[in-house]
Amino acid sequence: MRTGSRLSAAILALFLAGCTGLPAGLDPAGPAAEMITGLFWWFTAICTAVWALVVLGLGASLLRARPADDGASPLDRGSARRISATRVVTALVGATALVLVALTISAFITGRGLAQLRGEQVRTIEITGHQWWWEVRYSDGGPAETLATANEIHVPVGEAVRLSLRSNDVIHSFWIPRIGGKQDLVPGQVNHLDFTIDKPGIYRGQCAEFCGFQHAHMGLVLVAHPRDEFERWFSSQLKPAQAPRGAEARAGQQAFLSRSCVMCHTVRGTPAGGKIAPDLTHIASRSGVAANTLPMTRGALAAWIADPQAVKPGAHMPRTELDSDELNSILAYLEQLK
Ligand code: CUA
Repeated sequence: MRTGSRLSAAILALFLAGCTGLPAGLDPAGPAAEMITGLFWWFTAICTAVWALVVLGLGASLLRARPADDGASPLDRGSARRISATRVVTALVGATALVLVALTISAFITGRGLAQLRGEQVRTIEITGHQWWWEVRYSDGGPAETLATANEIHVPVGEAVRLSLRSNDVIHSFWIPRIGGKQDLVPGQVNHLDFTIDKPGIYRGQCAEFCGFQHAHMGLVLVAHPRDEFERWFSSQLKPAQAPRGAEARAGQQAFLSRSCVMCHTVRGTPAGGKIAPDLTHIASRSGVAANTLPMTRGALAAWIADPQAVKPGAHMPRTELDSDELNSILAYLEQLK
């Protein structure tokens, strides 16, 4: 079960962002990912050569004429044959050891290269894994420049980024195939993942460690922006939520604030300050709902709020009894939280 789930998540993630051409895991988007991809191809080449030699040897031995059956045990057939067999086995054991040493050294060199890439850290982003969503915090710039979002990481292109990875409950694993590297989020421990992205774009990721019922619905998105675009995104996210415009959205805000939503969710600039679920201050600016289980559309948001357990059974978001007017007004309010 565990191995099967990890394998299926790995295969899913490998293909997440690579619908055309190579699978995403082999289409690197930055220097660290390029190094890891290079190492992958090197391992693949060596292992393919070893496999081909083994198959050739096996074929040759099968095709070789069998010695005449003289009634003697194969073990007793002459000391010359035994000596040559000993030599062949010794040579092959030596070759195997050499191959393993070469692979170990190349992995070590790649690890060193990755460590040297780190250089000065420009930006640290804190990622916390929850069952089953990703909390994303930017707190490099002090309290005035701290913001939290969820399931979406935005970074500037060409800038070294360090992710500091924690878990709030069980072990998760952070993996965006095209940025290279995969790192576990372990309760009580902080792990790191460093990368730089070369090209602007949207990179899909996935939790890659079985972490419970909705592990497969723990998706995330990394958006790499040109620097000025990133700065615009950052300053717009820093702002508190805008006041609702229109009667329906105002009623929606009232409904939101009077319901249990506020126990778990924060909307900065309002009394809603819950810390155990995603920050909704700018929810409408994000591309997905329920850790990218659904796209960010009014219908998907309605389905999620009306019955979270139908969308994502086992998720910690409870069902809130709302009549259709309340649901519509809450949707109108949330849609304005850009
Ligand atoms: Cu989190 Cu799997």
